[in-house]
Amino acid sequence: MIVLKHAKTYEEMSKIAYSFVKEVVTTSPNATLGLATGSTPIGLYKEMIKDYQAGVVSYKNMLSINLDEYVGLPVEHPESYRSFMNNNLFNHIDIDKANTNVPNGLAEDIEKACKDYSAFIASHPIDIQILGIGGNGHIAFNEPGTPFDAITHLVELKEKTRQDNARFFDGDINKVPTHAVTMGLKDIMSAKQIILLASGAGKAEAVRDMVYGKMSPECPASILQSHPNVIVIVDEAAGYYLKA
Ligand code: F6R
Repeated sequence: MIVLKHAKTYEEMSKIAYSFVKEVVTTSPNATLGLATGSTPIGLYKEMIKDYQAGVVSYKNMLSINLDEYVGLPVEHPESYRSFMNNNLFNHIDIDKANTNVPNGLAEDIEKACKDYSAFIASHPIDIQILGIGGNGHIAFNEPGTPFDAITHLVELKEKTRQDNARFFDGDINKVPTHAVTMGLKDIMSAKQIILLASGAGKAEAVRDMVYGKMSPECPASILQSHPNVIVIVDEAAGYYLKA
């Protein structure tokens, strides 16, 4: 079931999201956090860092599992999702980096690495999963058409997704990797609680289809309708088509 939370601004959306993360982090010091990259969760990560720096919370005994990673980008590349997580969160809190997991986009045997990643998720159930949503309804890099029962897998990115992400690569789509490794929808659905954030007009139609549309692989995020505990937090622009 999807519960909707309406925020006016990106900042308010981030603060509401943090209230859910804080609840988990303060009640379960050994929690497993499912984390996302992209522009959307940056405000949430800032809230997490702020409270950590104020001495209110600790991530010392937590585990994190990220959704996805580009294939072929060196880990040190500034736009790898490993770099993103280090720069935007892990370097600023007390989580042990050894307990932070990002898919390996450089594995020699990608298929095996994917299977191992899903097995790891199954043996470390995610307490709270943070998600963004693509303008085409993707979650993680599960692009339209991905079967609902997919586990972690190699994916060819859609042109729309590469165009959307070109802003991180000097605006040049040719610099955006063509493939990624992503958690599958089945892995994501195994999380105990899911918090999906959406900000800006570019997400409004995808959010509408996720919440009110037919549950179908054409809108991968629509699978969340069948999860027992999903909170969707939208700012005003992303929630344009939603009833209050
Ligand atoms: C990121 C991810 C993607 C993004 C989505 C939205 O780990 O899995 O699904 O959440 O592409 O990206 P932003 O937040 O940059 O609009």
